[in-house]
Amino acid sequence: MSNVANGCERERETPKPSESPTRRRALEWLCVTLGGVGALLLGVPVVGFFLRPLIRRDADVWRDVGPMDAFPAGATVKVTFLNPDPLPWAGLAARTAAWVRRTSSDDFVAFGAYCTHVGCPVRWDTGAALFLCPCHGGAFSGDGTVAAGPPPRPLPMHGIRVRGGRVEVRTRAIQAALGARRSRGDE
Ligand code: FES
Repeated sequence: MSNVANGCERERETPKPSESPTRRRALEWLCVTLGGVGALLLGVPVVGFFLRPLIRRDADVWRDVGPMDAFPAGATVKVTFLNPDPLPWAGLAARTAAWVRRTSSDDFVAFGAYCTHVGCPVRWDTGAALFLCPCHGGAFSGDGTVAAGPPPRPLPMHGIRVRGGRVEVRTRAIQAALGARRSRGDE
């Protein structure tokens, strides 16, 4: 491209006496066209990158988190699964987590595993029957509602279902740790 551009400059700076106006005009058009194509090739991906979050509607994705019998009745079990839209270089960060509880032989609930304050991972404490956050003392009751500390909202709920004897959790593109878009029931 730079050779073409340099060529264009030279053509403009030192027109040869024998050169016809038609040829010069054709070269100018060629320069303009190549410049435009180059700008498009560079510009479209850049603009697309910045607009993508605004125009994309992330589809729900169901993730298999294991067979039903991996979840004893009444127990609250941590599961990890791949984000629905992992970036190729994300590595471990491509995985997220939820707490799954089997409430009856066929019924399950799933809570988001990240505190709604600033996103620290919560853990289920069976003895206290609370989800505890290690960062600022936040605590959530067994149903995910705030029991203590600074969390502004309950833990988000994931959709959950059983297909062919296996438990699946519904998830979306990576949820902001702050939980800004989370509210109970929208995941
Ligand atoms: S991140 Fe959980 S209480 Fe602050």
